[in-house]
Amino acid sequence: MTPPDYDYLRKLLKDHSGLDLSADKQYLIESRLLPLSRKCGLPGISELVLKMKGGSAAITTQVVEAMTTNETFFFRDKAPFDHFRDTIMPEILQARASRRSIRIWCAASSTGQEPYSLAMCLREMSAAIAGWRIEIIATDLSQEVLEKSRSGIYSQFEVQRGLPIQMLVKYFKQNGELWQVNADLRAMVQHRQLNLLHDFSQLGTFDVIFCRNVLIYFDQDTKINIFNRLAKATEPDGFLVLGAAETVVGLTDVFKPFPERRGLYRPNGARAAPARSAAAGVAAPKVAAMAGR
Ligand SMILES: C[S@@+](CC[C@H](N)C(=O)[O-])C[C@H]1O[C@@H](n2cnc3c(N)ncnc32)[C@H](O)[C@@H]1O
Repeated sequence: MTPPDYDYLRKLLKDHSGLDLSADKQYLIESRLLPLSRKCGLPGISELVLKMKGGSAAITTQVVEAMTTNETFFFRDKAPFDHFRDTIMPEILQARASRRSIRIWCAASSTGQEPYSLAMCLREMSAAIAGWRIEIIATDLSQEVLEKSRSGIYSQFEVQRGLPIQMLVKYFKQNGELWQVNADLRAMVQHRQLNLLHDFSQLGTFDVIFCRNVLIYFDQDTKINIFNRLAKATEPDGFLVLGAAETVVGLTDVFKPFPERRGLYRPNGARAAPARSAAAGVAAPKVAAMAGR
């Protein structure tokens, strides 16, 4: 790969997905894009770049998707799901007792292990939420990972990562070497393609936002910009959950850390913008009501 090709790719990736590559990541680009160029029947990365310069949107999408890191697994890091069950849900159930509806957004949800982990947590507290309307919206930049997430089909290896065996037996069906999330659990998660670099105000506001292990790839200004918009998308008494290596501290004060709960944040009351009603002006997503399930 020539230095101009590398510069072109770095800028393209930054503009399209926020991925901030340092000057020495040629090996990463080569390891991800050489297989793609072969798949496209092209001799190398320079030819991929030429196609993109020629305006091939399909190649650009494939390049951006090939360069994103989709690593995820069920109940990743465990603690966020403990916080969800023991801290977030009890508070939200109390605060929303009159309206009996909860909106959860799993931003950068990859192949679905994170939103389905949340759905399983909710199922495990079905008595407390009987009759409640609960939405889980899973979004990602990549259509490819969203498709897999929608299918809810995972390999033996994938279900062995983080998923307790009782949950596997309870919420999945085996089909040969593969496992599929049960239809009723799949129906609890709505999927949408969404780039966090773009406006997401049309999603409305949420009681809980999981935005984990994606901001880590972005530069500081991009993180601040996204935090500011996430704060507007979080109800004033809602929660933001970040990945283990991510924090708002030192970047912005629109969120404040929740005491003694690593990775958990709340909008900073003094700063958070007034909440917009989810019902008002939102392109109504198909709602997976949990009532009676
Ligand atoms: C490492 S995975 C994290 C998955 C999950 N949140 C977790 O913590 O296990 C990062 C995901 O972010 C997505 N992503 C990368 N850039 C994005 C962007 N600009 N907007 C939305 N999603 C993005 C990738 O496609 C990938 O699926």
